[in-house]
Amino acid sequence: MDGNGRWALARGRKRREGHRAGTETIERLLDHLLEIKIPFVSLYAFSTENWKRPPTEVKAIFELLDEFIITRLEKLVRQGVRVVASGDLSRLPPKSQALLKDAIDKTKHAKRLIANFCLNYGSRDEIHRAAFFYAQSKKNKVNTKPPSEKEFRRFLWRPDLPDIDLLIRTAGEVRLSNFMLYQAAYAELYFTEKTWPEFEEKDIDDAITEFSRRKRKFGGL
Ligand code: FPP
Repeated sequence: MDGNGRWALARGRKRREGHRAGTETIERLLDHLLEIKIPFVSLYAFSTENWKRPPTEVKAIFELLDEFIITRLEKLVRQGVRVVASGDLSRLPPKSQALLKDAIDKTKHAKRLIANFCLNYGSRDEIHRAAFFYAQSKKNKVNTKPPSEKEFRRFLWRPDLPDIDLLIRTAGEVRLSNFMLYQAAYAELYFTEKTWPEFEEKDIDDAITEFSRRKRKFGGL
């Protein structure tokens, strides 16, 4: 969800306002995904590297997350959106942790769309943890074989989510930036110049149209 800051600065506004506009894009995007019956979405909202930002910006991002949950939770429940999260939430401000826990709990039976909020998320961190917990599950016994994919995936943050089909990055950046490196092994990548606050329903449709034109072989012929 790149480009919130640039969107704001280009309009003589504060970066925080860009993140607020980005939050509105999230709401529109969820509405649209429900309409076109997409069952899973992961949103890279705060990375393990984003802590390097000025404390005022970090604070603003979590305040917006809190506000999003407070003002939209009822709607999410009504719509059948299940909130889940990836990342070590214990480093989040206590208020955000409590609100997220409540959102996860209140939406746990929702069936129409799983929205995975990646918060304090980093793919390397996820893989290191998975390796650690895998080893622990074997009681650190020396194994003669590496784990199978199925055995290893159990230790990722959300083993219940499928691999990524389509990965969209906005605002002209052409990198993965530590996002779901394991799950994106065969993802189709889609990059757009539009900033996240400018990203609209039609842009999702365009990305999906482009995705449906691609021939996916998963290493086969
Ligand atoms: C990337 O744009 C955006 C972020 C790092 C933060 C995204 C967070 C939110 C939209 C608010 C959180 C709310 C919810 C509901 C998850 P950037 O700041 O890197 O923009 P730039 O590249 O133009 O500087």
